[in-house]
Amino acid sequence: MKILFVTSEAYPFIKTGGLGDVCGALPVALRKRGIDARLLLPAYPAAMSRARLTGETIPMGNILGVGETRLLGAFEPESGCPVWLVDCPPMFERSGGPYMMYPGQDWPDNFYRFGLLSKVAATIGTAGHLMDWRPDVIHCHDWQTGFVPAYLRAWGVSDPPVVFTIHNLHYMGLFGQDVLKLLGLPESMWNLYGLAHHGLVSALKAGIQYSRIVTTVSPTYAWEICTPLGGLGLDVFLRERGDDIRGILNGIDPVVWNPENDPYIVAPIDPESPEQGKALNKAEVQRSMGLDMDPDRPLFGLISRLVDQKGIDFLLGAVHHLVAQGGSLAVLGAGEPWLEAGLNQAAASYPGKVSIHVGYSEELAHRIEAGADFLLVPSRFEPCGLTQLYALRYGTVPIVRNTGGLADSVVPITHKTGGTGIVFDHALTDALEWAIDQAISLYSDKSRLHDIRKRGMACDFSWDASAKDYIRIYESLVTEPSGT
Ligand code: ADP
Ligand code: GLC
Repeated sequence: MKILFVTSEAYPFIKTGGLGDVCGALPVALRKRGIDARLLLPAYPAAMSRARLTGETIPMGNILGVGETRLLGAFEPESGCPVWLVDCPPMFERSGGPYMMYPGQDWPDNFYRFGLLSKVAATIGTAGHLMDWRPDVIHCHDWQTGFVPAYLRAWGVSDPPVVFTIHNLHYMGLFGQDVLKLLGLPESMWNLYGLAHHGLVSALKAGIQYSRIVTTVSPTYAWEICTPLGGLGLDVFLRERGDDIRGILNGIDPVVWNPENDPYIVAPIDPESPEQGKALNKAEVQRSMGLDMDPDRPLFGLISRLVDQKGIDFLLGAVHHLVAQGGSLAVLGAGEPWLEAGLNQAAASYPGKVSIHVGYSEELAHRIEAGADFLLVPSRFEPCGLTQLYALRYGTVPIVRNTGGLADSVVPITHKTGGTGIVFDHALTDALEWAIDQAISLYSDKSRLHDIRKRGMACDFSWDASAKDYIRIYESLVTEPSGT
């Protein structure tokens, strides 16, 4: 079976968050199970420098009126996963991030950039003459690809069927009504049951309304977005899709995140006896981040985009408590300036106890996962979350809020059931302080900590089960004629 994976990011070509991790790892996991999954990705400079080009070039013409567009055949050198790069220099050959010109400022022509990606995907799906490879299913990810099923619907085409995965409902891809004309989509789509959302066009809503199956990245988040509280005004449309909404928990890439063989960390961590490896990695984080070199001080880590979703504001309220109770904090993150400033100020107030590295560093992310005793994920909402999964694998006890994929992946520690992490309910400083107290007390009971670490490291968060769930969906779509 042939699956075209359409995405705006995929590790190691380009990554800003978990979407990149998933779209890097899932196609590889599918390929291992005999599925011919191929990526379609914009030819950003970063992707061009990572990809190994095959030399195959398919001219597509100026299909959206924004510049001559070509498909460049390539593959990822380590995994061998094939990728088609959408080459349109006026759209993608830029410095800056994939979505923003600089922090806080989206590229003003994002509707064109991801409209082009979407139109190319829809064209690959329908135009048999383009290449000798035509997908059985197009698998789209997040708002950047929501126009794919809209194009197919506009062209009156129901084959190939589209699976649309929501990684985050909050990013809706909102634009003025005029973009419909600019993208060549019919005005008739401008209605409540089409892609209109509160007076704007929503690319995400297009994905929800026009795709055959909608998935999201954990069962609990699938439920949450169908409620008025979590649905952000889209819940009614999601509920109407009934059984076509599925929640499938993300897996992790076992090669990239392997505590026994991770080139970024200073010592391997043995799942049977993690203490020695943890201690060496902790010392390295303390040293490199300017924290006091105290092996007995519990180290809390945070690796996060610094945005409202992640609960950083109420974490700031708990920093004093964390330090006063004897902990220290290592933060890696970038995002909203007021949250960066708040964390910088906390680091200045507690030298040796709190340290922040503002920016993006794959290496430091691995090192903090390996060196921290506890990893904080205090999100207000979290569709899946990956840092808690990496933490479990690296013998680091996650502290998570009871929401979305965090609730589905961390089993609360109790004396009776054992459990794998500390789970708190409310998005409030008080609740987080309670969780920090649990962590401090757990840290003083080394034999219990040892058991919990080992249990976390033994959890299976590989893509095995979830890849099978996706394959079942693809198979159901190619064997049953679609209704759309
Ligand atoms: P989200 O996708 O909402 O950002 P996830 O937990 O699903 O949250 O995924 C975050 C991914 O991005 C993880 O791989 C994490 O290690 C990584 N990450 C987040 N911030 C940084 C950073 N500043 N530097 C390096 N990696 C980061
Ligand atoms: C989004 C979500 C995150 C999820 C990731 C990958 O960025 O915020 O919770 O893990 O996508 O699906």
